[in-house]
Amino acid sequence: MIGNLNHVAIATPDLNQAIAIYANTLGASVSERQELPEHGVTVVFVELPNTKIELLEPLGKDSPIASFLTKNPAGGIHHICYEVDDIVAAAKQMTDNGARILGDGKSKIGAHGKPVIFLHPKDFCGTLVELEQV
Ligand code: CO
Repeated sequence: MIGNLNHVAIATPDLNQAIAIYANTLGASVSERQELPEHGVTVVFVELPNTKIELLEPLGKDSPIASFLTKNPAGGIHHICYEVDDIVAAAKQMTDNGARILGDGKSKIGAHGKPVIFLHPKDFCGTLVELEQV
């Protein structure tokens, strides 16, 4: 059911340092910083030929990535995002197969303005998974 890998999100305590690593050391194309207060992150997008990397830094006191960075002070892979055609059908398939959707189980508008759900890491090989309707 899942389609393309939409992005890999990497949380970092120091976005400027992460930008320098991706733009200079790795020679990638990196977008301008975008503050997303409603999602509690500042983000840049690293555009690769076949997917994106999102570099995330906490924004504000209640950032959803703050506890991750407490456990992983140097940063690390926070989640991966797969594309789906129909978020409602995808959510049903997840729960029908015993997987847990985080929050109230309903899709929300994600950082790209599209409906997303997040799935419990313990149900997906220890990885936080985002499904995004494209
Ligand atoms: Co994401």
